[in-house]
Amino acid sequence: MRALALALLLSLTVVSAASSAPQKPDVIYVPTPQSVVDAMLDMAKVAPGDILYDLGSGDGRIPITAAKRFGVRSVGIEIDAALVRQASREARRQRVDQLASFRKADLFATDLSEATVVTLYLLDTVNLRLRPKLLSELKPGVRVVSHAFHMGDWTPDEVREVDGNMIYMWTIPSH
Ligand SMILES: C[S@@+](CC[C@H](N)C(=O)[O-])C[C@H]1O[C@@H](n2cnc3c(N)ncnc32)[C@H](O)[C@@H]1O
Repeated sequence: MRALALALLLSLTVVSAASSAPQKPDVIYVPTPQSVVDAMLDMAKVAPGDILYDLGSGDGRIPITAAKRFGVRSVGIEIDAALVRQASREARRQRVDQLASFRKADLFATDLSEATVVTLYLLDTVNLRLRPKLLSELKPGVRVVSHAFHMGDWTPDEVREVDGNMIYMWTIPSH
């Protein structure tokens, strides 16, 4: 009886440890240079009324820049809780926390349907896994901009090189 109770206790401990373990990021954190951030927002033609989602938002520089430059609402989705705290602090420091918000979440499990602009700095392989979700959840006309990484055989509408960094822009077609 004691052995059974011990086994049960051990299995509960393992389950709770697994569920509280931080989820592994699909990509490590590397910030986009500010000149590239500015060019990404220009390529997306961000304008008042847009809602920008940065998937894997790191220190929050893309949503914060969008809020500061264009006064748009922006959302950063980030799996690393420390980076979410850092980005939220920076948005408060730059007085755009009414517009730029940050959520600790897995980008693959996030509802993207309200976004009108989506920014990415992930990996080719992650972009390809994300592509069906972008195409099914985003409305026609939404702009998707990716720093460095493409989307396989989905031809971009525009490609730019800024300070040696490639930037790709696609528009969601009608469904
Ligand atoms: C290369 S960094 C880009 C940061 C920022 N977007 C920029 O361009 O400066 C990628 C970010 O994605 C985050 N990330 C990786 N996998 C993720 C996932 N499944 N869901 C949400 N964030 C993720 C990482 O923690 C990291 O901060």
